[in-house]
Amino acid sequence: MTDAVLKYGDQELPLEVLDVTDGDRGLDISPLRSSLGLVTMDRGFGNTAESRSDVSYIDGEQGILRYRGYPIEQLAEQASFLEVAYLLQYGELPTASELDAYAQRITYHTMLREDMKNMFEAFPHRAHPMSILASATSALATYYPDALDPLDPESVDISARRLIAKTPTMIAWSYKYAVHQPYVYPDNDLDYSANFLKMMFSVPAEVYEPDPVVVKALNMLLILHADHGQNCSASAVRLVGSGHANIFSSIAAGIAALSGPLHGGANQAVLEMLSAIYESGDDIDTVIKRAKDKEDPFRLMGFGHRVYKNFDPRARIIKTAAEEVLEALGVDDPLLDLAMQLEEIALEDEYFVDRKLYPNVDFYSGIIYRAMGFPTDMFTVLFALGRLPGWIAQWRELAADPGARIFRPRQLYTGPAVRDMTPIDNR
Ligand code: ACO
Repeated sequence: MTDAVLKYGDQELPLEVLDVTDGDRGLDISPLRSSLGLVTMDRGFGNTAESRSDVSYIDGEQGILRYRGYPIEQLAEQASFLEVAYLLQYGELPTASELDAYAQRITYHTMLREDMKNMFEAFPHRAHPMSILASATSALATYYPDALDPLDPESVDISARRLIAKTPTMIAWSYKYAVHQPYVYPDNDLDYSANFLKMMFSVPAEVYEPDPVVVKALNMLLILHADHGQNCSASAVRLVGSGHANIFSSIAAGIAALSGPLHGGANQAVLEMLSAIYESGDDIDTVIKRAKDKEDPFRLMGFGHRVYKNFDPRARIIKTAAEEVLEALGVDDPLLDLAMQLEEIALEDEYFVDRKLYPNVDFYSGIIYRAMGFPTDMFTVLFALGRLPGWIAQWRELAADPGARIFRPRQLYTGPAVRDMTPIDNR
């Protein structure tokens, strides 16, 4: 291992360089403050690794994403969502019998406590599904107070399974309440995606058969969203968990973080942007011009990424899937054509080329969700459903790490220097 040396004035501080399996090596700056009285400044943590992690690997320059070493393309093509959830939780792909047992241990928990219905009914009918999901997830801690100890592996395991099992039911029930339809109970004979679709879209008056095209596409979309390193929401989950908050509160924090339009909320924002462009009849050049204008707050939603500077491998898969799914469902959506034209023009534009701005995971996902029948304001809860196993794996990794410390960044104080308080009558 090669050390680095930091020179500051006439002092020299050797710093350890930390090895990795793949990607950037790390410089351990922990002695910096105690030795030199310096802290580091890194806005948006663009250059900071808080932890070592084994969960997922991203190479933004090459457009690579792997979960536990497996390329995302292979998992999206061949795996089921629960298989990926198992992989993220336990580090290895399950055998057929392990997967079967895991699926049974999940489906056992798909029901919600009946009195949770009162909670959904306390919200306005038009409440945003992300706000309801964050609240309902946090509320789960009140129903299972005996399994909240973050340092007890058995409690963590059952809470993780409850979360994965109950989140589809919570999302579907918040939707049913919003559209004034009766709640649909889980059907444990169906697989994860099919059961979710049934709870969302079936009504007691009619027989419901989930469309296999939709089930397959949803399974793939959930897999593509399942983890993504130390992004904003995963970091929120870990940060809250670092204080030994329970897993439900920590995941609720992740959902809150994901809701913002710069993060998971971008999938809703993309669809709203495409609809607004379509309805206004603006030509694409005008839209691109606005996105480049620094005086205009408008950004091309679904474009750009902190890490991907070549292409987002998830966006590539979703773009192809969007075309296939819409064709299979017989949906002709002018917003898909509009998105493709926008992408084509942006990718040739000097502004986007220079800044390495490419379509991200959110650019095409909303078009598939819309074709499946999901309302626009539900797109981000679908992202949350997919990301759940990743958040849990990240939280568990930190909880099991003997070197973990409570997250407590430093600051560079730039406020007023010390001054005496003037009594209120003299101010
Ligand atoms: N449209 C127009 N210009 C953009 C865009 C965009 N979508 N994204 C970045 N830029 C420009 C910035 O104005 C900046 O230009 P400058 O160097 O001339 O000042 C440059 O590109 C770098 O952008 P930053 O905001 O510094 O990049 P950062 O890594 O901090 O932000 C982010 C990444 C938030 C994703 C940004 O690209 C963005 O706002 N995109 C639109 C929202 C979006 O799609 N979010 C989803 C991301 S994926 C996810 O979280 C699931």
